Parts: sequence; structure tokens; C-alpha cells
Amino acid sequence: MKTTALILAMFFAIGSFASFAQQNDPKTLFTNNKCNMCHSVPKADIKSKMPTKYPDLPNKIAQETKIDDLVKFIKQETTMNGKKHGLKFKGNEDELKSILKWLKELK
Ligand code: HEC
Repeated sequence: MKTTALILAMFFAIGSFASFAQQNDPKTLFTNNKCNMCHSVPKADIKSKMPTKYPDLPNKIAQETKIDDLVKFIKQETTMNGKKHGLKFKGNEDELKSILKWLKELK
């Protein structure tokens, strides 16, 4: 009996993890947070609405800057090379971090 309960518990855990993973899919978060209004992500087949105006991601800056610093920049708390980010990010910081982590790891 104990094992049955354990196996059932594991199924539930895996099931809820799967739906959690889907909702937090960084590619979905990228478009949900409207990052694709300005940035294309060629490696993930995301096309910007204004592709010539803004940098495609991940570029060198995105790859070489620490996530924490990118977060501050995208929330317009800091500037980079004297410039502000195009949009003040007001969403969930954890979502932004998972987007950036995903961008940096895209191959
Ligand atoms: C209104 C247009 C706009 C939107 C929307 C936007 N960005 Fe940006 N983003 C910019 C601009 C402008 C820069 C600075 C580009 C430069 O270096 O000239 C930038 C730079 C960046 C950089 C650093 C790369 C670089 O070249 O400076 C990252 C990473 C980034 N954006 C991620 C995001 C993410 C993630 C989102 C969604 C939460 C987002 N951006 C939404 C306009 C935008």
C-alpha cells in the first residue's frame, strides 16, 4: 500500500511539473512579455515586428553581460553605453530572469 501511494504521489508530481514547465516556457514568456515587439530571436524562430530597428537576441552584449545586470538594464534602473532599454519592464522579475537565461543558452 505504501508503495502504491508513493507511485501515485510521483505521478502527480510529474504531472504538475509538466504543466508548470509549459506555462513558464521562456519562448512563450518572451512573446507574452512583448519582447518580440522589438527583438527577433532567429535561433528560436521569433521575428520582431520592427526587425531593423532593434538588435536581434542573443547578441554579444546579451551573452557577455551578467543576468542581474541585464535585469537592471531592462527594468531601466541602469543604462548601458549611455543608453536606456527601449521599454521599462514591469512584469515578473523571475520571468525576466528565465527569459534571459534561455537567451544566453540558445545555441
Ligand atoms: C520598445 C522596444 C523594446 C522592447 C519591447 C524590448 N526591448 Fe530589449 N532592447 C531595446 C533597445 C532599444 C535595446 C538597446 C539596444 C542597443 O544596444 O542599441 C535593447 C536591448 C536589450 C538587451 C541587451 C542587448 C543589447 O544589444 O543592448 C536585451 C538582453 C534585451 N533588450 C532583452 C529584452 C527582453 C527580454 C525584452 C522583453 C521583456 C525586451 N528586451 C523588450 C528595445 C526593446
